[in-house]
Amino acid sequence: MAAIPYKAVNWADNEPLFSSKLNQMANNEQWLYENTPRMLYTAYNQRRSEGIKIASGILMCNPAPSGVQQHVVRFGSFFSDACTPVVVTGLMHNGEVRITFGVRGIGKQYIGNDGFELLGGVMDWLKPDVVDYLGDISDQDCYSRFSDGRTNEFLNQIKNVEVTGTLPIVVEQEALSREFYQKTRQMLPDAEIFVALGNHDIRIFDYADKKMPALLEHITPEALWDFGNLGIPYIYYNDLPKKRYGDIHVHHGLAISKHSGESVKADIETFGVSLVRGHSHRMGAFFKTYELRNETLRGYEIGHNTDITSSGMAYSNSHNWQPGFAVATIENGTYPHIQLINISPEYTCVVDGRIFKG
Ligand SMILES: [Fe+2]
Repeated sequence: MAAIPYKAVNWADNEPLFSSKLNQMANNEQWLYENTPRMLYTAYNQRRSEGIKIASGILMCNPAPSGVQQHVVRFGSFFSDACTPVVVTGLMHNGEVRITFGVRGIGKQYIGNDGFELLGGVMDWLKPDVVDYLGDISDQDCYSRFSDGRTNEFLNQIKNVEVTGTLPIVVEQEALSREFYQKTRQMLPDAEIFVALGNHDIRIFDYADKKMPALLEHITPEALWDFGNLGIPYIYYNDLPKKRYGDIHVHHGLAISKHSGESVKADIETFGVSLVRGHSHRMGAFFKTYELRNETLRGYEIGHNTDITSSGMAYSNSHNWQPGFAVATIENGTYPHIQLINISPEYTCVVDGRIFKG
């Protein structure tokens, strides 16, 4: 039954509970339900009144001589990849002549936020002296050869922007990754942080070389991720593995096998050194001992932290991957004892006997 009109209900101190007032309050709830404005989404040949999300952002633009500016409002992972948003503007200056919105968005990452929250919690507690990120923090699918010529390709997404405005967008594209490194530095101001860039991290360099050569000299890891100010040394994906502590080297990884442990086995046989690596999205270890040399080569591939349900991970329909990371205790500063840390389906992990929840 439809509610009668809303009527305010007031109570005096120590007033008894009368059913008439309680009924009016119940009616008011129903009246609010029936009279609250509803949203109706009628764009892109869809008509929906449920499951609609609204988000808003604000930014301020200073006057620019060119009259063209690029700014980005990020909503994290609030909207799904398949979302087709309706974008509206609020107040604008009277002199405004044109506003262009990149509603599809660039600067995507396909990381698993729960997993990174978990890793952040572990680092905040463990306060490691050394952090090595083993690459592919940035996905850069808009620079990928798989996007070449498609709507997702970077230059297709910004084709209405003057060339002089392209470099800031390239840098802005990496904002999420830059913030990721900045957060690590803020959490661990004195830690040694090292990055082995992955094959995805460096897509921009090949792309710029091919399609934006005028910008190439300006596109550097320092410009993209602020590595200079953050005090983060790095190796490129094409560099040899970097020797870190003791026998352990790090690299993003070359070989890819669908079986855990086999990728790092192949890389150990390629480089002939002990290695910790990523890239395969699988977790595993491999050891090879040479008794006469009193030497054991140790290899660890440390899993992944992607969102396997995201569009960016849809290139495979068999995610036989393992989420996780690795921790190490470096005995006497010379011998790293490495442990693989598996992340459970409930986003929990155990480090030094302590349970962490994502
Ligand atoms: Fe990779």
